[in-house]
Amino acid sequence: MSRDIRVEDLSLEEKVQLLVGASWHLRRIHGTAGETRPVRGLPMVAMADGPSGIRIEPNPIRRWPATAFPVPIMLASTWNPELVEAVGRAMGEEARDYGIGVFLAPGINIHRHPLCGRNFEYFSEDPLLAGKIAVAYVKGVQSVGVAATPKHFAANEQETNRTTVDTIVDERTLREIYLKPFEIVVKEAKPWAIMSSYNKLNGKYTSQNEWLLTKVLREEWGFDGIVMSDWGAGDNPIEQVKAGNDLIMPGSDEIVSRLIEAVKRGELSEDYVNRSAARVLEFIKRTPAYKGYKPTNAPNLKEHSKLAYEAAAEGVVLLKNNNEALPLNTNAKVALFGTGQIETNRGGLGSGHTHPRYFINILDGLRNGGLRVDEELSSIYVNYVKENRGEDYLCALYYEEAYSEPLPQDVVSEEQVRKYAERNDAAVVVISRNSGEGWDRRAIKGDYYLTDSERRLIEVVSKQFHALGRRVIVVLNVPSPIEVVSWRDLVDAIILVWLPGQEAGRVVADVLTGRINPSGKLPTTFPRDWSDVPAAKAVECYPGTPPDNPKVVKYCEGVYVGYRYYDKYGIEPAYEFGFGLSYTRFEYRNLRVTIDDSVKVSFDVINVGKYPGKEIAQVYVKAPQGSLDKPVQELKAFKKTRLLNPGEVDHIELTINIKELASFNDAKGLWIVDKGEYEVRVGASSRDIRLTSKFTLNNEISFKP
Ligand code: GLC
Repeated sequence: MSRDIRVEDLSLEEKVQLLVGASWHLRRIHGTAGETRPVRGLPMVAMADGPSGIRIEPNPIRRWPATAFPVPIMLASTWNPELVEAVGRAMGEEARDYGIGVFLAPGINIHRHPLCGRNFEYFSEDPLLAGKIAVAYVKGVQSVGVAATPKHFAANEQETNRTTVDTIVDERTLREIYLKPFEIVVKEAKPWAIMSSYNKLNGKYTSQNEWLLTKVLREEWGFDGIVMSDWGAGDNPIEQVKAGNDLIMPGSDEIVSRLIEAVKRGELSEDYVNRSAARVLEFIKRTPAYKGYKPTNAPNLKEHSKLAYEAAAEGVVLLKNNNEALPLNTNAKVALFGTGQIETNRGGLGSGHTHPRYFINILDGLRNGGLRVDEELSSIYVNYVKENRGEDYLCALYYEEAYSEPLPQDVVSEEQVRKYAERNDAAVVVISRNSGEGWDRRAIKGDYYLTDSERRLIEVVSKQFHALGRRVIVVLNVPSPIEVVSWRDLVDAIILVWLPGQEAGRVVADVLTGRINPSGKLPTTFPRDWSDVPAAKAVECYPGTPPDNPKVVKYCEGVYVGYRYYDKYGIEPAYEFGFGLSYTRFEYRNLRVTIDDSVKVSFDVINVGKYPGKEIAQVYVKAPQGSLDKPVQELKAFKKTRLLNPGEVDHIELTINIKELASFNDAKGLWIVDKGEYEVRVGASSRDIRLTSKFTLNNEISFKP
């Protein structure tokens, strides 16, 4: 191995080879997403997706089974950076053990619209929560010497025409919302790579946007890794190199030739090539392959399965639990309705899907989870799914997570439902949805809305089970919000399990029986209807114009995304940002706020209920309306308590840097912390504020980005 290879030792051809991914005929491991090229004895560094677990596509000869963790929106629902860091470390280990040097994750775009097809792969509508969870994830992955790659930089919040659409967004909104998670992760976790996005930003492809990739990312934030393109992104490799996109993926021999010719013709200064070649060379030297690590091809999947379970357990959000309908008694007799008990979705589709060693659907999880499942009823569902999907479908679902429209749910008659109500203690209705890369969800029945047959199923089960005083629980196995207001009053409890990974069924069973006390909270608002979403106000705001083939999308709502919008304009959500119930109850006491060079916030959280549990305490700040119009409040800190037994207290101490209170003033090109009165608002959710305290800043503070 050329241990001390330097850029100045390389020819122009060799330097350009470092800037372009290995084309198909050069590839070593075809199941990965891509590799760097073999230059002067340097190893080819393999790259793999995806944010829910290492994805190496199986082939007839070989599989690379890897743990299917809960999807990122569920990791964010834990609000537990320590746990997410452990998940990141486990994924990094599995990448390393399979010879992968670069993990193409996490995705940290913002949940601007609940119908974005990749929201399952992203963390939140709030930039602070997204950024802090990303920091934990990246630190975990890179702790084992594998590169993490926060993506897609930037303003890629829809799948519709993602490779060509031009995102028009003002600089304040960009910096306060869409760039902020990337800024936080670059400054606090130092990722070794960043992936630029497909879309244009204010007229220029992000992979060709020097303001974004060089001025902001490097000169302002101090990023010192490499920028790689998304796969096939942009339309001009010369502009990409000039802008600071160091590595063009997946790469082709044609691009290599084009860049060499451009240098020879004086169209591209060799200084740009040297700059990126030096960065890529340094990047390669950080990877396990360069350091001579020999892949074991035997990742510790057994150990990591426990972590997949724990992460899913902490990401479940209890949305409703009337009259303590949950938890059920162990050995309770359960009538399981809905084909989602069999067609459970463990993860999302596209580059973010997974190939685990096994997968536990909800039916199997309940069978083995201490509940007595009504086997006659479930066998009706199993046969129905097989008849409608074919025998090998379940295998395909297990391996490929094939997308399919939800099956009609008219599987059992009302008389049958009544019979199952008579012989069971409770009904559990599973509603499953999926989404994926390359397409956005639709505001239609069967996607954002229930189908008519799903609605009928909930109505009939509710009527028959409630007639006999039996409980009805709905399990939401969905990638991002669906409509809930029109039917939630028909049921006693609602458990949101998102796309929970390979341990899905076990987690659902353990939440139902109380072995897991749900402690997750919403990282994204459940609006009453998708039409309440600010971006839904006009087609130019989403998915863009012309409507049949969008070329331009305007972020019309500015900084008013998610709870920032609903709070500002007094719009009631179905379930607010930060919301989540528990089987126990928590009280908040003794708030103290002190100001010196930062804002120090302390308070106590007490478990006043009868179950052990964890609480996610959130700290919002209401800033004075200075020269800029501002959100009512913004999340500035949060903390998940340790497990508190009934009566136990956790004393929380949080610090907010004064600069984090700033808004960005486009006209002045400055971050500004206004002088005036601020309010600290400590709560169990963005709308369940328990303690408040005010403080005053006597002087305005301003600073350059
Ligand atoms: C895709 C995705 C990106 C992924 C890459 C490699 O198009 O946008 O998230 O990492 O290609 O598979």
